[in-house]
Amino acid sequence: MSENRYLTFALGKGRLASKTMELLEEIGITCEEMKDKSSRKLIFVNEELKLKFFLAKGPDVPTYVEYGAADIGVVGKDTIMEENRRVYEVLDLGYGKCRMCVCGPKSAKELLKHHEMIRVASKYPNIAKDYFYNKKHQTVDIIKLNGSVELGPIVGLADVIVDIVETGSTLKENGLEVLEEICPLSARMIVNQVSMQMEPERIKKLILDLRSHL
Ligand code: PRP
Repeated sequence: MSENRYLTFALGKGRLASKTMELLEEIGITCEEMKDKSSRKLIFVNEELKLKFFLAKGPDVPTYVEYGAADIGVVGKDTIMEENRRVYEVLDLGYGKCRMCVCGPKSAKELLKHHEMIRVASKYPNIAKDYFYNKKHQTVDIIKLNGSVELGPIVGLADVIVDIVETGSTLKENGLEVLEEICPLSARMIVNQVSMQMEPERIKKLILDLRSHL
């Protein structure tokens, strides 16, 4: 494909984007424009390498990549699972490690054993649905929340939650615990399916460089 085409990256805003830029820098891909923290720019360019970068809300990253607005995305496995977009997941970047778990008070453990009809609060209703319906074959009532999900069992909104556990301190400080582990999570690189056909050399080189560096 033409050497003049930009390869565009969509990065999940925040710590994930900073970690990704650090990693890319280690394999010789930089973007000086992005280092100016006071900048309000949304899109950053490296003219020499013909690369563009933009920062997006995590759940929007797979959307940009599926529609080809970005060729490549970096986002958490939790978001990839929840959004379930048609993209290729090509690389586990190894950082942002945590676990998707069913959590609640110790007393709720019994409710998970006997296929009881329980209420599950989560920021990840699709992951919760898939886990309870398809893996555990337990019919549950799923309640979507947008954050501070640990409140659910504490205030009596839900019996358990499906949420990310990193250090476990949020659970501990709120008298909750991990009841079941759903899957491990980390940052992943995703690629638009058409871009993979159109720019195989550039994208495969990037994946290989990252893989051998990691
Ligand atoms: C995440 C997650 C847990 C917490 C887990 O929340 O939803 O609440 O981090 O981390 P820990 O195991 O290290 O305590 P986040 O900070 O993203 O905010 P949110 O609750 O608004 O989603």
